[in-house]
Amino acid sequence: METGSGRLRSARWLDAPEEVGLQNRAALRAVGLDPKPGRPVIGISNTVSDLNPCNSSLSGQIEAARAGVVAAGGIPVVFPSISLGEDLMKPTAMLYRNLLSIEIEEMVRAYPIDALILTANCDKTIPGAIMGAVSANVPTVLILGGARPPAEFNGERLGSGTDLWKALDERRAGRMSEENWQAFENCYSCGLGACNVMGTATTMAITAETLGFTISGASTVPAGDPRGLSFAAEAGRTAVERAHHPIRPRELVTEASLANALSVVSACGGSTNAVIHLAAVAGRAGISLTPIALQEAFKKAPVVTDIQPIGKGLAQDFDAAGGVPTLLRSLSTLLDGSTPNVQGRTLAEVIEVAETPARVIRELEDVPDDVPGGLAVLSGSLAPDGALIKVAAASEGLLVHHGPAVVFADYDDMRRRIDDPHLDVSPESVLVLQGGGPVGGPGMPEWAMIPIPGKLARMGVKDMVRVSDARMSGTSFGTVVLHVAPESAVGGPLSLVRDGDVIALDVPNGRIDLEVDPEELARRRTEWTPSPSPHVRGWVALYRNHVTQAPQGCDLDFLQALGPGTDAFIEP
Ligand code: FES
Ligand code: MG
Repeated sequence: METGSGRLRSARWLDAPEEVGLQNRAALRAVGLDPKPGRPVIGISNTVSDLNPCNSSLSGQIEAARAGVVAAGGIPVVFPSISLGEDLMKPTAMLYRNLLSIEIEEMVRAYPIDALILTANCDKTIPGAIMGAVSANVPTVLILGGARPPAEFNGERLGSGTDLWKALDERRAGRMSEENWQAFENCYSCGLGACNVMGTATTMAITAETLGFTISGASTVPAGDPRGLSFAAEAGRTAVERAHHPIRPRELVTEASLANALSVVSACGGSTNAVIHLAAVAGRAGISLTPIALQEAFKKAPVVTDIQPIGKGLAQDFDAAGGVPTLLRSLSTLLDGSTPNVQGRTLAEVIEVAETPARVIRELEDVPDDVPGGLAVLSGSLAPDGALIKVAAASEGLLVHHGPAVVFADYDDMRRRIDDPHLDVSPESVLVLQGGGPVGGPGMPEWAMIPIPGKLARMGVKDMVRVSDARMSGTSFGTVVLHVAPESAVGGPLSLVRDGDVIALDVPNGRIDLEVDPEELARRRTEWTPSPSPHVRGWVALYRNHVTQAPQGCDLDFLQALGPGTDAFIEP
């Protein structure tokens, strides 16, 4: 892979002796390319798919990147890669994030690629791309597709996901007519691009830029905005430059840049999913994100943005207020300014030319002292290896709470019984969902925002404490304790909870406890057996056998780096 000598990685294919080099050069000429010595080959992943409207806004940017590569003297090669869309994939796109990362790594291994341009937009496509890039460790620029235009309903702009959950609550409470529900559907589909709130896609786009993988200022440009095309062309030119003078993904993913990224996620009131993805990205670089590192980042970085689901604005407003450079400027006293980006600029240099925080991005010093970080880490007898809560999206009055558990053994059980008028539940109950973890889901689906039981919703109850080993959409809200580890499917304490057990949540002290006598728990443990899985072959069997728990990022164990600085990428 070394290009320090000036020899490109692709030369092993294209300058190979005799018939091998001839065949390889002829293969590229057959698709209209011109492999001349010294011209780097830039792989461009194409994740556009009719099955994934979030990524389908990227077509124009792929062409612009291709032109940028040619203009800088490189050879652009576009290759398809699996397109993971949140909306249509069952049980969850998360089941395939690691597969996407494998695809990227193996495409690099097998083909003459000197640098990568990876296109991503929908939630899992961003971390999957970065994970693959870190493992392959060839210079990589990310191009993101941006947020979709907001729809309008009753004169209000709709936030993707967030406003759907609100409409669903209204419907379940009997306050939204069938006619209005239909009208909502008719305007909900509002074009190509990612969810336009601070969901996982926007959070991960911001995270990718903070880690240094995008052109500065590019990650939040809305879908269809012509600036996206100029940034894509710039990405093309940058990839060629980096092929000659590498800045590699493992120079971008360091303890310092990960700490910066965690602070940014907290300050955005960003998606809880970002924490899992960052743990996985870190794992590919041989770095482990400890609960202490997480808690430190969350404690020092209060929410400075005002974007749905925790605020009022949309992703478009975040971009208009200056985007990531302005956010970094607001947080500059909390961040390590020495971390580089793929353009060769340090974070401090990016901040120097950033616009002043205004509107939906506040100055850090204007934020009152009692505003907490967006997220908090929990642990305790119910989650010995940790759990997470999005404080910014929770109800203040529930952050310290004692209540009896109402337990659902799995998602189907929950859907079957949640609206049962005879369900023994009160507003003080703690709703517990088992079987939603990485092994149990499988793939840790976004089931954690358990709906308020129908009979309580009709009484006007809007929030309750909910606990599970699942994830939730970044567009969701509520007092939701999630990512409980170890998960129930592998015998974590969550698997031992029974109806009526008291669960104690204490967010200020970082605790989530199951108040059951240890002897009773030990007795229950002897009775516990794992549920058999129908998945005995194929990808899902491989996944279940190797997936790590949430604190390790739900990566497959054999894909993680062996340690910091180790390079297990073997050239063919
Ligand atoms: Fe793709 Fe939200 S569903 S970004
Ligand atoms: Mg999502």
